[in-house]
Amino acid sequence: MNLADLNKIAKAMVAPGRGILAADESSGTIKKRFDAINTESTEDSRRDYRELMFRSTEAMKNHISGVILYDETIWQKAKDGTPLVKVIEAAGAIPGIKVDEGIKPLPNCPGEVVTIGLDKLADRLTKYYEQGARFAKWRAVIDVGAGMPSYSCIRANAHALARYAALCQAAQIVPIVEPEVLMDGDHDIDRCLEVTTFALKETFQELYYNKVALEGIVLKPNMAISGKKCPKQASVQEVAEKTVKMLRDCVPSAVPGVAFLSGGQSDEAATAHLDAMNKIGNLPWGLTFSYGRALQAAAQKTWLGKSENVAAAQRAFAHRAKMNGLAALGQWKADLEKKAA
Ligand code: 13P
Repeated sequence: MNLADLNKIAKAMVAPGRGILAADESSGTIKKRFDAINTESTEDSRRDYRELMFRSTEAMKNHISGVILYDETIWQKAKDGTPLVKVIEAAGAIPGIKVDEGIKPLPNCPGEVVTIGLDKLADRLTKYYEQGARFAKWRAVIDVGAGMPSYSCIRANAHALARYAALCQAAQIVPIVEPEVLMDGDHDIDRCLEVTTFALKETFQELYYNKVALEGIVLKPNMAISGKKCPKQASVQEVAEKTVKMLRDCVPSAVPGVAFLSGGQSDEAATAHLDAMNKIGNLPWGLTFSYGRALQAAAQKTWLGKSENVAAAQRAFAHRAKMNGLAALGQWKADLEKKAA
């Protein structure tokens, strides 16, 4: 492992004003997104859609540091025959790859899941590196409910994340470590804070046991935030303050950067929260976005699967990338959204 090089990539992933585009929806998830815009999900339509984003040159150059790809996409070519990986590199962004193989029920823990994909991961990482991937992602899913999460669930997922991270670094790939506490429930922000703290503490403990070098990872957490169905929704300022406090409590300063998932927040909420945290300032790590839905929803609604909408969809994507880029600097303002509308 060359830690200096891993650290260089990790720092570039969280460079000031830039963040990560999570375009790694599995075939099942992207089909759901396409169903919502009445578009058939085929190899070509998925390629056309993703190419549209990767060719939003100004947005990519200025605000996107890296792109997380799904296995299908990393091998795909653009319409003109250029490998999509090359399109991403030409736009100045780093190609990355989702390497987990989804979730399975966790035995003896009703309703809980564990992420799979460690078997043969070492071989797959070698091939992805040859194809241009310089970072990877593995997502653990932790649900909040009555009696959940169990320690078994937190521990099994933290262990798998750490095994994955160690394998990545051995393959000279920066692991994005993503323990996602879901915001789907009716729990309040303090319950989210408690569960996320538990998950983060356990994850860093397992990273230590597995000898993962923290200088060569990027953490992708959820924010401390109210569950979607909670009647009392925390304010932007409360989310920012509680999330920053939680991270200070759990994330060693050796970690170069933290890149949040959006997790089902509205586009503007995801931006406002990130901005408010960066306005607090004086943080030991870079704090940016690694959004899927909150970067892509507007572009999908504009595109609708039609080639005549590509330019407008690129503008919608570029707008969200710019807003989140500003939020990563703590320089976003709500009226920038209104002006664009
Ligand atoms: P969302 O921002 O849509 O939550 O997706 C980010 C991601 O990569 C989840 O694994």
